[in-house]
Amino acid sequence: MTNTSSLTSPAPDAPPERQRDGGVAVAFVVAVADNGVIGRNGGLPWRLSSDLKLFRRLTMGKPIIMGRKTWVSLPKRPLDGRDNIVVTRDLAFEAEGAHVAADTEHALRLGQALAGERGAGEVAVIGGAAIYEALIDAADRIYLTAVHGEPDGDTTFPVFDLTGWRIVSEEPIERGARDEFDATLRVMERVWPEDKAA
Ligand SMILES: NC(=O)c1ccc[n+]([C@@H]2O[C@H](COP(=O)([O-])OP(=O)(O)OC[C@H]3O[C@@H](n4cnc5c(N)ncnc54)[C@H](OP(=O)(O)O)[C@@H]3O)[C@@H](O)[C@H]2O)c1
Repeated sequence: MTNTSSLTSPAPDAPPERQRDGGVAVAFVVAVADNGVIGRNGGLPWRLSSDLKLFRRLTMGKPIIMGRKTWVSLPKRPLDGRDNIVVTRDLAFEAEGAHVAADTEHALRLGQALAGERGAGEVAVIGGAAIYEALIDAADRIYLTAVHGEPDGDTTFPVFDLTGWRIVSEEPIERGARDEFDATLRVMERVWPEDKAA
């Protein structure tokens, strides 16, 4: 991570200012523990009610792209108020109430088209690890909930080279009675080359 000096506090769901193509931004939404863990036994490795509410707010009204395993892990499918896009190599896979895409490129294209139709400023990439890994080069923004704990888990957030990214805001998430850990919402944006020149 470079450049942590320009901290401002935009609303986390404020419309994106800039992205690579001047169109719909690609935003990762992820919660990562201090040890990198994001998942356990096909589900989330913690109870964090406040982060689930934040997730809902950050993704509402937007297309959401997820891997087949994350789709299967959802307690209620599809997630309401959002265009659910499930990525799977299984051409026969049926995801009731969702779009199915055969690869991340098609998922992204579909997500951007749907966002355009709905006037949404972002396509949200909601995991899991395989999908974050495949789409990092397309990402403009990351809404990262840093979970201050070290839970056991079997799925970790891929290690990315975040050179060229900056933190635009960082604020604690108020811990409620149904939150197992303290957490912080960090918003990061990629500085595309044309932004650097500006
Ligand atoms: N903490 C968080 O913010 C967060 C967010 C999301 C998920 N999670 C957790 O992460 C875990 C799941 O992550 P995961 O990495 O194991 O699975 P995943 O990314 O949700 O899904 C993986 C599946 O997606 C499909 N896929 C992946 N890359 C593809 C590509 N390039 N083209 C076509 N299909 C592709 C494949 O489906 P097929 O096998 O059907 O072909 C693959 O098995 C769960 O524990 C979940 O709870 C945590």
